[in-house]
Amino acid sequence: MRTTGVLMVALASGPALAQEAGQVNVICSVQAEWCNMIQTVFARTTGIKVNMSLKGSGEALAQLIAERANPKTDVWFGGTGDPHLQAAEQGLSLEYKSASLPQLHAWAQQQASQSGYKTVGIYSGPLGFGYNTELLAKKKLPVPKTWADLLNPAYKGEVQVANPASSGTAYTMVATLVQLMGEDKAFDYMKALHKNIGQYTRSGTGPIKAVARGETSLSISFVHDGPGEAMQGFPVATITPAEGTGAEIGSMSIIKGARNLEAAKKFYEWALTPQAQQFGAASKQFQLPSNKATPVDPRVPDFKKIKFIDYDYAKYGASAERRRLIAKWEKDVNSLPR
Ligand code: G6P
Repeated sequence: MRTTGVLMVALASGPALAQEAGQVNVICSVQAEWCNMIQTVFARTTGIKVNMSLKGSGEALAQLIAERANPKTDVWFGGTGDPHLQAAEQGLSLEYKSASLPQLHAWAQQQASQSGYKTVGIYSGPLGFGYNTELLAKKKLPVPKTWADLLNPAYKGEVQVANPASSGTAYTMVATLVQLMGEDKAFDYMKALHKNIGQYTRSGTGPIKAVARGETSLSISFVHDGPGEAMQGFPVATITPAEGTGAEIGSMSIIKGARNLEAAKKFYEWALTPQAQQFGAASKQFQLPSNKATPVDPRVPDFKKIKFIDYDYAKYGASAERRRLIAKWEKDVNSLPR
């Protein structure tokens, strides 16, 4: 109720503001509903027009690399942190130190400091499995509780995950498995899992949407994407694997050479405020917000109940490592017959 109230006030306060306050070009890598909401509210409250383009984390990075000589993007909002770190390393994003940094959780500040302040954490969320409760029951299949369980031959064709080249969610899975099992065992695991994969999707949220709609039984997904589907009435639940899992640090970066730099900084500062961060939950997306003062919706996963690996964000966000692992996945896993 509270977040809805905030939105109503924000929407009501704006129409009189002129568009002459400028514009900002944003690549948005969270789900469309959240992107649309911040586009509308920021424009109405500041008068700055937001030109929004929606892209998965890997695709967003590819676009920024392509437009390096002549950047058309001012801010990259959301998506997993690894490609944001890669953008920082490649000099695609601008060093910018927000005065709000001390208000953020330690993990969000660390994301900023280890990138030389070229990106910042805006939310975090754990990787896990999504499952369709009705389909599993109907097919008499068990709920997988571990990474090992996902290799059950009974799940052949039942598991969806995204392609790590386009999706930060899927890259988080690759990096998590490598850290959890060691590289050789992780690739053996992914080769075995390949037999159970029905489809590798482009975007990270495709698989849990397919699970929710009964198109497939299981997905590897961020667990904070589950409650929004369940709220729409779909029979979907999530679980995190008992061996341990990774978490993303969803991030935001200002692009080097941004044509609308002042508007970009305003958007960036606004996006770090508790008021703006409430629009995640208001649009049914339940990541943990990075500003410590943002109210935490009860549907946000309880991090204290989840077993996490000690994810090395610097190592797995490095360009060479990310490129190498994705190329190896293409060659050793994706090319295999199923
Ligand atoms: C969803 C999740 C976000 C995540 C994003 C990554 O929107 O809710 O937390 O950052 O997916 O998308 P991608 O398509 O790159 O996996």
